[in-house]
Amino acid sequence: MPRKFALLAATMLGVSLVITGLSLAADESPLEKQMSAINKKTASIRKATKTVAQWKKDAKSVATDAEAISKIAKESKLDKSAAEKVKKPYDDYAKLMDDMIKAADELAVLATNASSTQPQAKTAFGALNKSCTECHAAYRVEDDK
Ligand code: HEC
Repeated sequence: MPRKFALLAATMLGVSLVITGLSLAADESPLEKQMSAINKKTASIRKATKTVAQWKKDAKSVATDAEAISKIAKESKLDKSAAEKVKKPYDDYAKLMDDMIKAADELAVLATNASSTQPQAKTAFGALNKSCTECHAAYRVEDDK
């Protein structure tokens, strides 16, 4: 290939890779966006409930984060696409969402109560964290990424 064309081809390839990258990023489903948001808040709750010192400092943010998770999960619950994708009952999926909502609500109440202790918060976080794993085991398929 003449050098001029080789350069042109390389440039075009570069451009198309960039475009592919952009469209992949824009390809996140609403559920994936919600899950990413839930995931960030879960990570801060995990950190805030880990030690007594962290808990004393961050109990308030745990309440806010847990409330936010509950709110996002109520939206995710209406989304039937994940159940359809794995051809499993939507009702079971909705129930698993309810388990997460309940666990998040309980943690929010606990975090709002000034007399709650760090071990209690850690246990409540454990229940929330378990609700993620249970749904993922049945409804989260790893597609090719
Ligand atoms: C009732 C079901 C359900 C519950 C509960 C649930 N998830 Fe998910 N989650 C899913 C499904 C389904 C996917 C796959 C979405 C997809 O790839 O389209 C997913 C994907 C994810 C992803 C990957 C998102 C991405 O960008 O691909 C993260 C991170 C995640 N969940 C975190 C969590 C955390 C943290 C919790 C608990 C606090 C949680 N999930 C609870 C169903 C659930």
